[in-house]
Amino acid sequence: MTQTPVDPATSPVSPALSAAEEALATSTDAASLAHSVTRSAQIEADLDVNPDRYRMLTGVRPTGNMHLGHYFGTMHAWKPIQDRGVDTWILIADYQVITDRDGVGPIRERVLSLVADTLAVGVDPDRSTIFTHSAVPAANQLMLPFLSLVTEAELHRNPTVKAELEATNGRAMSGLLLTYPVHQAADILFCQANLVPVGKDQLPHLEQARLIAQRFDKRYGRAVKKHPVFRRPEALLSEAPLLLGLDGEKMSKSRGNTIALRMSADETAKVLRKAKTDSDRRITYDSAARPEVANLLRLASLCGAGAPEELAERIGDGGAGTLKRITTEAVNEFFAPIRARRAEFAADEGFLLGVLHAGNERANAVANETLEAVRTAMGMDY
Ligand code: TRP
Repeated sequence: MTQTPVDPATSPVSPALSAAEEALATSTDAASLAHSVTRSAQIEADLDVNPDRYRMLTGVRPTGNMHLGHYFGTMHAWKPIQDRGVDTWILIADYQVITDRDGVGPIRERVLSLVADTLAVGVDPDRSTIFTHSAVPAANQLMLPFLSLVTEAELHRNPTVKAELEATNGRAMSGLLLTYPVHQAADILFCQANLVPVGKDQLPHLEQARLIAQRFDKRYGRAVKKHPVFRRPEALLSEAPLLLGLDGEKMSKSRGNTIALRMSADETAKVLRKAKTDSDRRITYDSAARPEVANLLRLASLCGAGAPEELAERIGDGGAGTLKRITTEAVNEFFAPIRARRAEFAADEGFLLGVLHAGNERANAVANETLEAVRTAMGMDY
């Protein structure tokens, strides 16, 4: 296919995006997934050799207490990445809270709680940067030029936006929900992160961020001949283990079916006692036929109690009571040191605020620099 080159700087009616660019936007077909998997493995290997080439950004929405699903899904990886020497940035995505709800909730408490969780899992505030959206104006300002680089149709096709829309149960979609992939691109691009740990379902977001970077540099890049304004972020693919909530449904903060990181050993025992199982006394590991039992076996296993099959065999006719007791012990033992550290941090609000302020300061310095480069590229450096 040949395309007539259009000079966006001089063409009076250049379309917002070429059809080819648009078609690329949400391509998560098998080929691109295979490419992401290969690339992620290469990066994983390179992290040990050249950790200083990477800045990793991950983000969490402060919508409730972090739970074991978050821990085994992403948080467990933060310290190891940081300790390999990768510049680690943790975003507490407070503006993303209001994409799909009417208010911010007890936001201050949740943000500080998240700072405590982050420190408890071993993120070192002297080496890593913990910050919030709302404290970094220059990062948010990127939303304006970025919005001009995407089409409304493209946003409607975004799989995550679609899924979130379905989850709102027919409530109207806010403009922020529709455009949050653009805001997320601003998160990644303002800080020049080139590495974002994601599950497969998040790949379209990263593709969107890359496209925005590419389109920006194509449209405005000629003003800065030396180098592009933005880095191209890549995915570090992670395989999050399947953990269901204690009621056998999808684990979620809002369903109240989780074990929170901040729970005490007693609270953990209490919620696990109420966990749904089934009436078959003999414990077996069968994810399809016995999802709730299998889920507890997997959870105990993640916490070091052995392989789920082996554990099931060990419990045998001990029934759900024994399964729950073993799972409780495993969870409580595994999380005891993290919870102890967490309690210490959580008791010192001044320290938590200090960590956040230092992180916000670092984020602002980088964001201001990026915005300056954006202004220059766009000829808006008056
Ligand atoms: N969307 C992510 C979540 O719901 C949070 C997030 C916001 C994020 N900005 C990000 C993740 C930037 C990675 C990079 O958990």
